[in-house]
Amino acid sequence: MSLTIEKNKDLSGLNSLRLSAQAECFCEVKSVADWQEALAWANSADLPVTILGGGSNVVLAPRIEGLVLHPANAELGLEREDAESVFVRVGAGHDWDPFVRACVDHAWFGLENLVSIPGSCGAAPVQNIGAYGVDLADWVHAVSCIDLNTGEVFERSAADCEFGYRTSRFKTKEAGRLGILAVTFKLSKKPKVNLSYAALHEALDAAGVAPTPINVLKQVEAIRAHKLPNPIVTPNAGSFFKNPVLSTSELSALQNLLPHIPVYPVAEGRVKISAAYLIEQAGLKGFTEAGFAMSERHSLVLINLSASSGQACLHFASRVAERVHALFGVLLEREPIALGTLAS
Ligand code: EPU
Repeated sequence: MSLTIEKNKDLSGLNSLRLSAQAECFCEVKSVADWQEALAWANSADLPVTILGGGSNVVLAPRIEGLVLHPANAELGLEREDAESVFVRVGAGHDWDPFVRACVDHAWFGLENLVSIPGSCGAAPVQNIGAYGVDLADWVHAVSCIDLNTGEVFERSAADCEFGYRTSRFKTKEAGRLGILAVTFKLSKKPKVNLSYAALHEALDAAGVAPTPINVLKQVEAIRAHKLPNPIVTPNAGSFFKNPVLSTSELSALQNLLPHIPVYPVAEGRVKISAAYLIEQAGLKGFTEAGFAMSERHSLVLINLSASSGQACLHFASRVAERVHALFGVLLEREPIALGTLAS
């Protein structure tokens, strides 16, 4: 075995909620050969395999049995181009935010609204990260995957990833079965700004600047810095709940209680509503218990003030969700992924 396997690895610095957690075995993997060697080793020892990327969208169990793999391939390259587009491939271990900035620097456009999102490029397709009117799925061309059982490497086209709102088949029917090696994006050579998100449009107008990709990037950066607690200062995992999707009849019932709830159309007869608004109207903005709180800055962000356990985190989140359900009859679904064994 040429790879270094660390035993009883402390993961508390490798998750943005800063929960205390330990991996029975831990290993960084860069090349395909590294992945295959690590997987063969784990499979021969009958150890379960867990992938931990940037750790910015996970709730970790206190101990993760088996082998935790941490993708470390940060290669970034132009694969090919045509008259209108570039095909850019980025390794799973590349940090997301510098990747977005590098794309804008190279005049490869499309991802600017997704600046400042913490995490790694390999984790980004799993939950189809999205912000300020753009989803990753809008720009993905293909995802390079490895089968965790067989070590087989294959490409999955964007259409086959079954992307949805904060979801994909990597998070649903194939959860725990695949590793992501790299992602290929098809980006535009011409600026393609997306100003569909009202707050972004308003911020550009207020700043009196032209809607160029770099200005969009700067405004999104400023909005996020203003609204969302910085995980480096205040441990958190971004939005802790998804915005619930309701039928229009469910919405009408809810509007009797909350006439001003923000509503976003998603499909015929379906609407997305603001979970942050529900939490705030339930009186839970700033709610603090057992070392956790719902942020005073943004009610959808669960912050870790002093707690250490992933189980306590899920317990706190359940208390919030139960209160919202009791008051408004809406179920809040957790957004971060639980890794290791945790009761939810
Ligand atoms: N709001 C409140 N109280 C708050 C904050 C917000 O009532 O404390 C209400 C306001 O009415 C506001 C509305 O919620 O207009 C929406 O807030 P925001 O624009 O911040 O968006 P969000 O729906 O809460 C989603 C994503 C974010 C993403 C933003 C911007 C989800 C689960 N979250 O949040 O993504 O940055 O839109 O596009 O879809 C993440 O996934 O970790 C994340 C931060």
